[in-house]
Amino acid sequence: MQLGIDDLAFATADRYLDLADLAPVHGVDVAKYTVGLGQDRMSVCAPDEDVVTLAAAAALPLVEDLDDAGRAAIRTVLLATESGIDQSKSAGVYVHRLLDLSPSARVVELKQACYAGTSALQMALALVARNPEQKVLVICSDVARYDVGSSGEPTQGCGAVAMLVTADPRLVAIEPVSGLHTTDVMDFWRPNYRSTAVVDGRLSLRAYTDSLAGAWQDYQAQGGAALADIDAFVYHQPFTKMAVKAHAHLARVAGGPRDAEAQAAQIADTLRYNREIGNSYTASMYVGLASLLDHATEDLAGSRIGFFSYGSGSVGEFFTGVVQPGFRQHLRAEAHRRLLDDRERISHAEYLRIVAPVNPVDGGDHVLEPTTRGSFRLAAISGHQRVYERAAAADAGSAVA
Ligand code: COA
Repeated sequence: MQLGIDDLAFATADRYLDLADLAPVHGVDVAKYTVGLGQDRMSVCAPDEDVVTLAAAAALPLVEDLDDAGRAAIRTVLLATESGIDQSKSAGVYVHRLLDLSPSARVVELKQACYAGTSALQMALALVARNPEQKVLVICSDVARYDVGSSGEPTQGCGAVAMLVTADPRLVAIEPVSGLHTTDVMDFWRPNYRSTAVVDGRLSLRAYTDSLAGAWQDYQAQGGAALADIDAFVYHQPFTKMAVKAHAHLARVAGGPRDAEAQAAQIADTLRYNREIGNSYTASMYVGLASLLDHATEDLAGSRIGFFSYGSGSVGEFFTGVVQPGFRQHLRAEAHRRLLDDRERISHAEYLRIVAPVNPVDGGDHVLEPTTRGSFRLAAISGHQRVYERAAAADAGSAVA
């Protein structure tokens, strides 16, 4: 029996900042961003969007396509994030209600920087192995924020990916061998009192590639596939150039092709969406997977994909999956393209106005002005409670909070 990803969709904010509008503010040539970092745009959350609304929007089409029995089979929801909205209650519980899922379910939130989504995927596979009738809804959702004016600012973004993990998956069967690498390093973290991450950018690049080498060595020691037997590679993409650097590093340590064109062919399709979205932390590698599948030809069926998931701090995991025959019939490529093309370009001034999260601490009634055109929104923060609603267009105006 094969286990893996049966369905996948992503969501992002409905507005973006073009990095051509940020470069002059930083006093740099835009090529530093478009070529040096490999980023063109970054999605910017409206004040009434957060990891809950993004997660619910990503998962909605998956849930809507299931019949009653299929929905009831979702007995676990795992939500990975490093930009959570509560220290105690899982963001997944809000999402579970917004999606009207069965109460006969367990819901938890997982955290280890950008890596946690992969941990959620592996846990989901273990649960499905135990009971193949079950489906597990895995959601990775994040809003990536750095200080205004910092070198990390052009790598911001936001997004969520929802994946249905099942037996006999229609998209990608995940293979059992994983290579793991954990080491305590202070390359990126966010103390409880901060809304933006603290990052040692240079150290984080080195920590990422060290983790890749360590995870690859462990993957080999565990009996993983040879590099030559892996057809395409999906990397965690804090900015897309990082995947290019990582793939060159893997080629060096594992004896892969040294010429840049051959290396580029193995990752090019995985970078397309992230160039336009920016960093989405836990979601970014799975946005890369969506990008690969959505842009690939039929030839990808039967191909083995190598994944490297990295979370600062740090945990890395290298694993593989095999693209299933007929996968193209189950993609959401058109919806993904529409989502990106329908976003509104905002000015730098508007970006500055909305980039800081709404975070009142007084326990009063704070009603949020409707801004996002997304399927779900944060309507208010009232008496320390976050009140979410399904947007009028999606649900004839009925609030579900
Ligand atoms: N045209 C083309 N490329 C240019 C350029 C120009 N005009 N100006 C600069 N560049 C290139 C640089 O050569 C560099 O490329 P290289 O690393 O391949 O040499 C790249 O653009 C970035 O320039 P750099 O000066 O290194 O940028 P920075 O120090 O301002 O910030 C990061 C880069 C990644 C450190 C910063 O964006 C950051 O902190 N990001 C958040 C942390 C992160 O994402 N870490 C990743 C691991 S999880």
